[in-house]
Amino acid sequence: MEDIITLKNIYYSYFGKIAALKNINLSVKKGEMVAVIGLNGSGKSTLLNIINALIFPDSGEFLLKGNPVTEKSLSDKNFGMTLRQSMGYIFQNPEIQLFCPTVFDELLFAPLQLNMPVGDAEERAEKTLSFLGIEYLKDRPVLMLSGGEKKKVAIASVLTMNPEILLIDEPLASLDPKTQTFFIDLLLELNRSGKTIIFTTHHLDLIDHLQPKVVVLSEDHTIQKTGTSSEILNDQEFLISVNLIHEHIHKHGDEVHKHYHSHYVFHKH
Ligand SMILES: Nc1ncnc2c1ncn2[C@@H]1O[C@H](COP(=O)(O)OP(=O)(O)OP(=O)(O)O)[C@@H](O)[C@H]1O
Ligand SMILES: [Mg+2]
Repeated sequence: MEDIITLKNIYYSYFGKIAALKNINLSVKKGEMVAVIGLNGSGKSTLLNIINALIFPDSGEFLLKGNPVTEKSLSDKNFGMTLRQSMGYIFQNPEIQLFCPTVFDELLFAPLQLNMPVGDAEERAEKTLSFLGIEYLKDRPVLMLSGGEKKKVAIASVLTMNPEILLIDEPLASLDPKTQTFFIDLLLELNRSGKTIIFTTHHLDLIDHLQPKVVVLSEDHTIQKTGTSSEILNDQEFLISVNLIHEHIHKHGDEVHKHYHSHYVFHKH
């Protein structure tokens, strides 16, 4: 199967000073689901920003379907359009991506940009609102929503675009438990239907649910390990070494209890 995304020896630093990614090599096949995990500041969001061509590496190469993505190659209108159409990005902070006056305008934006007839775009937007259970937000100004509502609108606006590749930074952040479950099922369904999905998380339970290929970024901003979900989750020693799980001591009544703790998976009594 062809590589849809290839990263070769990527190095990125903010302002040439703050290293965020070092020596990143990664290939993602069409239809693959990939999780990028790592602690705060390890470089997860930076990696998605590079894949979305919002920033460009200091050195190394990023290829989309074998075509180099650079500031220069993107100045070609057709290539720029192809890249924008093929990727939908749900940001860690949805406020960055919401800019239209109302929720409905937000959902219409991408289909209209892609030259879909207005009637069809409206139908798609209506369907997406009802699919996500947020019809009641349709005419609301985007800036007057709760954090979780903004996240749902951000998800909806990417779904109306129907991209081939989904980039999702912290999928579960700010969603309530019911919506988290819904979104996890949706990601599985989208992946089954052939979408390539790259997401970031530090929640190991999400890896357990979705069983993606896993890329572990370490605190020194390099890829520490790549493997299947079970290879990564079963390697307790490795997870401790990269601080993704830690020893946790707490009390049950008067009894002191000690066990390894991630924010879910290994927390079993
Ligand atoms: N806009 C920025 N300007 C300067 N440095 C930045 C900027 N954004 C991120 N960094 C730095 O780059 C490194 C990687 O940050 P990044 O946001 O990619 O981490 P992350 O893995 O997504 O973290 P988190 O889990 O907190 O979201 C960190 O050291 C961070 O301080
Ligand atoms: Mg981040």
